[in-house]
Amino acid sequence: MRHCVLVTGGAGYIGSHTLVELLSNEIEVIVVDNFCNSSKEALRRVEEITKKSIKLYPYDCCDKELLEEVFRQNTFDAVIHFAGYKAVGESVRVPLKYFRNNLISTLNLLELSEKYQVKNFIFSSSATVYGVPKTVPVSEESEIFAMSPYGQSKCMIEQMLTSFSKAHSDWNIAILRYFNPIGAHPSGKIGEEPRGIPNNLLPYITQVAIGKLPYLTVFGKDYPTEDGTCIRDYIHVCDLACGHLLALRKLYTNCGRVVYNLGTGKGYSVLEVIHAFEEASGLKIPYQIGPRREGDVPQNFASVEKAKKELNFVAKYDLHQMCEDAWRWQQKNPKGYQEE
Ligand code: NAD
Ligand code: UD1
Repeated sequence: MRHCVLVTGGAGYIGSHTLVELLSNEIEVIVVDNFCNSSKEALRRVEEITKKSIKLYPYDCCDKELLEEVFRQNTFDAVIHFAGYKAVGESVRVPLKYFRNNLISTLNLLELSEKYQVKNFIFSSSATVYGVPKTVPVSEESEIFAMSPYGQSKCMIEQMLTSFSKAHSDWNIAILRYFNPIGAHPSGKIGEEPRGIPNNLLPYITQVAIGKLPYLTVFGKDYPTEDGTCIRDYIHVCDLACGHLLALRKLYTNCGRVVYNLGTGKGYSVLEVIHAFEEASGLKIPYQIGPRREGDVPQNFASVEKAKKELNFVAKYDLHQMCEDAWRWQQKNPKGYQEE
């Protein structure tokens, strides 16, 4: 059977890589993206990589009337919902902007999915829902507790989906909790394009490497870890994209509501990431030790047993490849997608 999927936020970092995975596996896609944090060029490049075409609706998912057009005009059997805001620091400053965009977009999609009987739904959650983990690795059974409005929006949506699934036993919903996606498609054609100064570690490092930023500040070296810097579970964005395909296949077996961590199960410190990047690029990354960043947890990495057992999900790329691919993307696109 031929499948077609509605992908919201498909022009974004994770969305664009997932489109490549879906299209390469003969799944048709329809994209809704208002480009508030992405560019159309990303979709053009996905088409170039896959030699397939994408049907695009440049709409805001918070506009229900417009969104309904997409449901009325097309037939698809699943929704993958990436669209949303994701900057933790900004969410602390302007929480309502985050609640509006992240909650209303999801509510609209769920109501329309109910009306048009689209019974398979994948949601982008985050490891941020684990707050400060009591123990690592964190499993899907660990307590969830958000520390920022961004994280709260993810927890609220998870609850919304859980209640919806209780009321609709014939619906299949996958909540995917991503750890730290980094890297880029090995072609160097699509990747992460942060607007302004990056908040996240890898894009910051690649911008130092290319000379856009003078040096990296390591946020704290007094954490209770081996080298004193924080530990995270970095996962290649193409592995993450593959996780979506596997989750989609799981939904098509009528599994009900499921929750999976998508990580590698391995934690690396900030200093280890810097050294891996230096090795992959052959460059020296100047850095200074600075104070801790508010809200950072000392360590967080995933238990990946459940995704392995139930989805057959195993991350294939190692840290060296993640750094190589991130660096290739940065070198080929020093100005991101604006180049052309
Ligand atoms: P991104 O910002 O690159 O992509 C999000 C896309 O959604 C963008 O193309 C943006 O233009 C679009 N969008 C936002 N609001 C919209 C709206 N109302 N209507 C239509 N389009 C809209 O982010 P990403 O890194 O690809 O993340 C995708 C999802 O995964 C987000 O929900 C994010 O919270 C979640 N997530 C990301 C990370 C990460 O580190 N990147 C980690 C955990 C979870
Ligand atoms: C951040 C978010 C988290 C979100 C995740 C993925 C915060 C507090 N958390 O997580 O909610 O799910 O991104 O989008 O923002 N680091 C430096 N110097 C830098 C940048 C980062 O030392 O310039 C360190 C951080 O202290 C952290 C590690 O690098 O220890 C990774 O940072 P980052 O990429 O921002 O990811 P998270 O902190 O895991």
